[in-house]
Amino acid sequence: MRSAGAVGSIHPLPVPEPGAEERPVLVLDLGGQYAQLIARRVRDARVYSELVPHTLSVDEVRRRNPAALILSGGPASVYAEGAPRVDQSLFELGIPTLGICYGAQLLALELGGEVARTGASEFGKTELDGGTGALFAGLPEQQVVWMSHRDTVVAPPEGATVTGTSASTPVAAFEDERRRLYGVQFHPEVVHTPHGQDLLKNFLYDVAGAPPAWTPAAVIEEQVERIRAQVGTSRVICGLSGGVDSAVAALLVYKAVGDQLKCVFVDHGFMRSNEAEQVAETFGGHFNVPLVHVQAQERFLARLEGVAEPEEKRRRIGEEFIRVFEEEARKLGDINFLVQGTLYSDVIESGGTDGVAAKIKSHHNVGGLPADMQMKLVEPLRLLFKDEVRRVGEELGMPERMVWRQPFPGPGLAIRIIGEVTRERLEILRGADAILQEEVRRAGLYRELWQSFAVLPAIKSVGVQGDERTYAYPIVIRAVTSDDAMTADWARLPYDLLETISSRIINEIPGVNRVALDISSKPPATIEWE
Ligand code: XMP
Repeated sequence: MRSAGAVGSIHPLPVPEPGAEERPVLVLDLGGQYAQLIARRVRDARVYSELVPHTLSVDEVRRRNPAALILSGGPASVYAEGAPRVDQSLFELGIPTLGICYGAQLLALELGGEVARTGASEFGKTELDGGTGALFAGLPEQQVVWMSHRDTVVAPPEGATVTGTSASTPVAAFEDERRRLYGVQFHPEVVHTPHGQDLLKNFLYDVAGAPPAWTPAAVIEEQVERIRAQVGTSRVICGLSGGVDSAVAALLVYKAVGDQLKCVFVDHGFMRSNEAEQVAETFGGHFNVPLVHVQAQERFLARLEGVAEPEEKRRRIGEEFIRVFEEEARKLGDINFLVQGTLYSDVIESGGTDGVAAKIKSHHNVGGLPADMQMKLVEPLRLLFKDEVRRVGEELGMPERMVWRQPFPGPGLAIRIIGEVTRERLEILRGADAILQEEVRRAGLYRELWQSFAVLPAIKSVGVQGDERTYAYPIVIRAVTSDDAMTADWARLPYDLLETISSRIINEIPGVNRVALDISSKPPATIEWE
């Protein structure tokens, strides 16, 4: 499960125009740590869903024409001062509504039921009895559910019947078929409720009549239409980074407007072994997308001469990147639109603030965009999470390697050489990293690891190789597991694998005589070394 971190806060998400997501399931965020997860689970059931602030007006809800509403959990007691509430008239719209935990209590409280301030909390796995009614259709009458609450519903909303109880929760589930209101005290969205996803599907498919239509194919079709409508006959430019986001965004735009799109791939020379070639081959070759492959390796290397300070490196790479990109854009003439691979998570993190600047992801993740670039943004991935982007990429026929690539920093290998970046060091690091990648993949661990890579600290140590004294670089192996890069743990790679990587690197890469393993978690270390 993703760490709950920032998801509990309430974000004024920008509302997309209606489209194939015409009948979304809106999850009203009441501040619970699982609010975002509920939207995820609904989307996992292939129904489009969005997290929205609980303050969304009734008019706005009506305008969005949702297939269903879900009221999330929340940290507060419904009786607490300032506890989040929703407009009661929401319940009169006839929209199927499911309240979860705090959401269920709110339904009860607002609609003539009763919530007891028990003060005692119930937390963890609980046996649920007598699950009946529409939500529990086809599910066992007794099942384990995950509870996490203090107050408890003791009388369901007027006209509703109790459809489940537990030892300490007399109203663990209720439903009012006529008003289409449903409540569960437990959390169907967490994995600790084994039948939770089935319950959500019952709600979505049977109660709300929302079909599982949110598929990669549907997303593609929808986005292609939108892009056509937005772009018209104008020309579009897209910067490719080698990462999955910009690649999928570019392919969608290409599918929509064909040769009106030009892709620019600035090769700064800090990519991994074969990656630049792969981008060029895949786009220019396989997909036939008009591609400008800018060989800027020398320029970047020259800009980094004598620079060892990490931030200075990043700054120079970012600046140079913009310069090159601008030059290429100018050569292409009049272009009105710029494609960005902004994801839903980026939208949420930027707080959905208005003003484009806040929403622009730093280009290629190496720097900002030039302020005077008067282009409108095309952001076909704004509604998608990373794993959904991957599914769309697969559907579009992108190669497995590109679709499943681990995150890679924009400044690339330049921030994995600790010290000055030189041609020789780049070559050594690239070679060592390629061996590491190959072995991690061979061991079947590539997708399990958030990131795995080699680092070259520019120091030398003494060794001995075939009677000869050596004085050469070490390579550090860095492999981490993580959900979101905010925190990370060092991966417990099998010793056999470490041994193979170590001996291959030392034997095959001239200039390396030692391999070390980084066993630091984040925090206090970061994933990258610079
Ligand atoms: P750290 O090193 O801060 O990294 O733990 C967290 C995640 O961000 C990636 N990273 C970057 N990505 N441009 C990027 O696009 C950058 O300058 C950059 N620096 C770090 C890092 O690989 C990890 O996934």
